[in-house]
Amino acid sequence: MLKRKDLLGIEDLGREEILEILDAAESFQEVSTRPIKKVPTLRGKTIINLFFEASTRTRTSFEIAGKRLSADVVNISSSTSSVSKGETLIDTARTLDAMAADCVVIRHSASGAPHTLAKLTKASIVNGGDGSHEHPTQALLDAYTIRQRKRRLNDLKVAIIGDIAHSRVARSNTHLLTKFGSHVWLCAAPTLMPLGIERIVCENNEFLHLTNSMDEAVEHADVVMMLRIQFERMTESFFPSVREYFRYYGLTSARARWAKPDVIIMHPGPMNRGVEIATDVADGPFSVILDQVSAGVAVRMAILYLLLGG
Ligand code: CP
Repeated sequence: MLKRKDLLGIEDLGREEILEILDAAESFQEVSTRPIKKVPTLRGKTIINLFFEASTRTRTSFEIAGKRLSADVVNISSSTSSVSKGETLIDTARTLDAMAADCVVIRHSASGAPHTLAKLTKASIVNGGDGSHEHPTQALLDAYTIRQRKRRLNDLKVAIIGDIAHSRVARSNTHLLTKFGSHVWLCAAPTLMPLGIERIVCENNEFLHLTNSMDEAVEHADVVMMLRIQFERMTESFFPSVREYFRYYGLTSARARWAKPDVIIMHPGPMNRGVEIATDVADGPFSVILDQVSAGVAVRMAILYLLLGG
């Protein structure tokens, strides 16, 4: 079991805890291959998915993970909750706690929202993505996918390319991969690289590299992780046109050839095809994008199991 009530970010997770989650996920992966995909592990537990931002993968995979562990799972979105009538997030959380929820998975546009809830609730809080801050379960499923393919998490060159400024995925992955001694190359157009990024991340700065050159990032990479342009978080224009963006920062098969011959291509989804990644690369032989989705269920089963006690 994890010796913590909540899972709020990768920054404060130790390597041992990360490995414990990945090892447990390996055991749970098998459950999804059975004809009856269910174990009684969390029977009697209640999990609430509280999503204030759109989600397909995270919300659905937490729901599937909870149900495969026999927990009761309830989904609440901002449009169908009393938040739409003006109720505060804190009152919403206290209300769910009064109903004896065991775990609340929250996604919110405000960085730190899960941390606020964690201080107020008896329920375990899992961060399903908070603003531009962290998306810890995404980084864990990415690490799971990388470990499955590369058999290690250390001594890799991982290029993370795209909208770094708005990306909680980049932040969580940088924390995780540098903790294990892999070299992370964050690559973005100058306008999409946040100022002071080298101070924000991370404790293991010798493993962090910043570049505006996609060729430099991709060259000899073991892993290339493309990020979505988050148009919904942009209040101004960050580049002249999508066409120009794709020309300089889109992953094409020609660019992918600069990486190692056994490179894996990742994307957390949802993808903007033709913006940050070409369709033939997204669907090509080096892509592990759907493996990431499958890993999401196993990793979230492991997280729920390790937090809620089984
Ligand atoms: N990667 C990810 O968080 O996807 P969703 O927004 O669909 O949950």
